[in-house]
Amino acid sequence: MKLEVDQSRLAQELETLGGISEAPSPVTTRVVFTEADLRGRAFVKQLCREAGLVVREDPVGNAFARWVGTEPDLPAVGTGSHIDAIPNAGRYDGTVGVLGGLEAIRALQRSGFRPRRSIELLTFTSEEPTRFGIGCLGSRLLGGLLNPSVGEQLKDKNGTSLDDARTHAGFIGPLSDVRLPEDYYSAFVELHIEQGPILEARQFPIGVVTAIAAPASLRISIEGEGGHAGAVLMPDRRDAFLAAAEIALAVESAARSTGAEDTVATVGVCDVFPGAVNSIPSRVRIELDVRDIDQSRRDGVLRKIAETCDEVATRRRVTLRIQPLNADPPAHCAPAVVNVLSEACETHGFGFMYMISRAYHDSLFLSRIVPTAMLFIPCRSGFSHRPDEYASPEAIGHGTLVLAEALARLSGQDVIVNHA
Ligand code: HGY
Ligand code: MN
Ligand code: MN
Repeated sequence: MKLEVDQSRLAQELETLGGISEAPSPVTTRVVFTEADLRGRAFVKQLCREAGLVVREDPVGNAFARWVGTEPDLPAVGTGSHIDAIPNAGRYDGTVGVLGGLEAIRALQRSGFRPRRSIELLTFTSEEPTRFGIGCLGSRLLGGLLNPSVGEQLKDKNGTSLDDARTHAGFIGPLSDVRLPEDYYSAFVELHIEQGPILEARQFPIGVVTAIAAPASLRISIEGEGGHAGAVLMPDRRDAFLAAAEIALAVESAARSTGAEDTVATVGVCDVFPGAVNSIPSRVRIELDVRDIDQSRRDGVLRKIAETCDEVATRRRVTLRIQPLNADPPAHCAPAVVNVLSEACETHGFGFMYMISRAYHDSLFLSRIVPTAMLFIPCRSGFSHRPDEYASPEAIGHGTLVLAEALARLSGQDVIVNHA
């Protein structure tokens, strides 16, 4: 079977989707359940229907587009990613796995291949933590890894709950219905840009992901005392922002102190109240993200941060509250699926390297219930989560071709591949 990817069509579809945004081009912003997100979802669903796939959505908005196989009752093979995008993002994070997954299916269709196991394309809801504070809501609920009653009550900055936002967007039904039945999928593969510089630097067209780092995030609310920036003398101040600043620097030094390359930490959110240049900050809220492929090392960093918070709070006479948002284990990809991806690369003559993913993905959670692995393609300078994120049509085409080959192999498999 001659497998060929229509690179220019795929590139065009990615451009179109990239332009469905709350921000003007070249910026892509598509936060979950916003008007832009719903338009993006409609665009993808339309393309799936045009490919003859059976499309459905679950109560949290995960979308499933199924190419029914010759043995439809067997566990299906899943692929897919997300289309929601953080503010000021690019147009390839997640979308390459969704539209590339669709093009992989279309390429198989054009080649005359008939899947034995159905092949199903997933578009996960809310992979990004932007709106509700924790990422991968759709895949967590699919895997039974987020309590539906907790999930429902997650709130955005305006106090809108996930439950209200999803029902307002037209997704109804109990969140408890989202969880997938046992053995719903026999294997899952996600295609994604690397979001790092390694593949480009080492000139590999493909990365086969063997593990996904363990992410954790915290919200720290600090209460000091406000006052006039001119009138309050320095020794009398209880400046909430300066306490936050010390904590932010301690986050960096705690991550660096492990000496391991895989330990990373970021303070990505800092809200200062009242936010006036001549008013001493009385309240500050920061959110931080700590990751490592080694969970115990990551948790050691979190402990160090908590110790620093105690010391800074006492010395600066501020009060603070630490609210854990998530603390997830790392994922180890299923060796049998990793092997299929490696064989697919070899079949098409693509060099590849095994690597870990420092970014998290829906595969981090799918891997808890399905034998899972990921394919990475290089992105320019490793840039991601910024408007100049870029992956070439050729790189995307290579990843899509390998994905198509892997899906064909997995859908023909007799046995369910082993878990990690
Ligand atoms: O933050 C991440 O790793 C992912 O891009 N949401
Ligand atoms: Mn992302
Ligand atoms: Mn992503």
